[in-house]
Amino acid sequence: MGITTCIFDAYGTLFDVTAAARQAADEPGREALAACWRKLATDWRLKQLQYTWLRAVAGAHADFWQVTQDGLDWAMEANGLHDAELRERLLALYWELSAYPEVPAMLAALKSAGFNTAILSNGSPEMLAGAVQSAGVGAELDDVLSVESVGVFKPDARVYAMVTDRFECTRDQVLFVSSNGWDAAAAAGFGFRAVWVNRAGEPMDRLPWKPERVLDDLAGIPALAGDWR
Ligand code: LAC
Repeated sequence: MGITTCIFDAYGTLFDVTAAARQAADEPGREALAACWRKLATDWRLKQLQYTWLRAVAGAHADFWQVTQDGLDWAMEANGLHDAELRERLLALYWELSAYPEVPAMLAALKSAGFNTAILSNGSPEMLAGAVQSAGVGAELDDVLSVESVGVFKPDARVYAMVTDRFECTRDQVLFVSSNGWDAAAAAGFGFRAVWVNRAGEPMDRLPWKPERVLDDLAGIPALAGDWR
C-alpha cells in the first residue's frame, strides 16, 4: 500500500543533539568545555542511548530526562569537567535544541501534500514540547508521540506500534525517518518503509534489518514520500 503517514525520530533527526555542547562552549569563561565539547557531546549521546537500551532490556524504565542527566554526568566525569553550573547550563540548552535548517520547509511540504506527520521519540512529553516549541514546528505536526505512553524505549516494538494505533494505518503505509541507524533498522524490521538520514557518513549498522533508503539530510523526504504514495 502507498504511504499516508510520515514519522520522524526527534533527537539527532529533527533536533541537533550536539547544539547544547557547541553553544555552551561558545560562551565566555567556558575554556575547559571549548577544549573538549565534541567529545563531550559524543560521550553524552552515546551514554544516553546506552542507558535507554539497558533500561529497556532490564525492564527498569525511567524517563528520557533521567537518562539524559545520567548520560551527561558520566560524560562530564569522563572529560574531567566538574562544574555544577555548567551541568545546569547544558541541561537547560537541551530543552531548546535547534532544528536542522531544512526541517521547517520539509515538514511544510509534507503537510501541504496531505501526509500525516508526527514525531515518535524516546523523549518525555515535556522535553518534546520544549523542543517543538523552540524550533517553531508545532503547526506542521499532527502529533508528538512519546514512549512515555508505553513505558519502554525504542527499539521495543510497542513503541513503533503507537504509530499504527494513532493513525489507524498499516505498517507499510508509514514512512519512518531516523538519523539513528539502529532506529531506522528496527523500524524496517517492524514493517515501516524506513529511511536512514546518515548525516555523519557512518557505516550501516550490522543488524538483521536494513533501512530501505539512505539520505544525507531531510531535504529529499517530500519527494520520496511522493514517490512512495
Ligand atoms: C529519539 C532518540 C532515539 O528521539 O533520538 O527517540
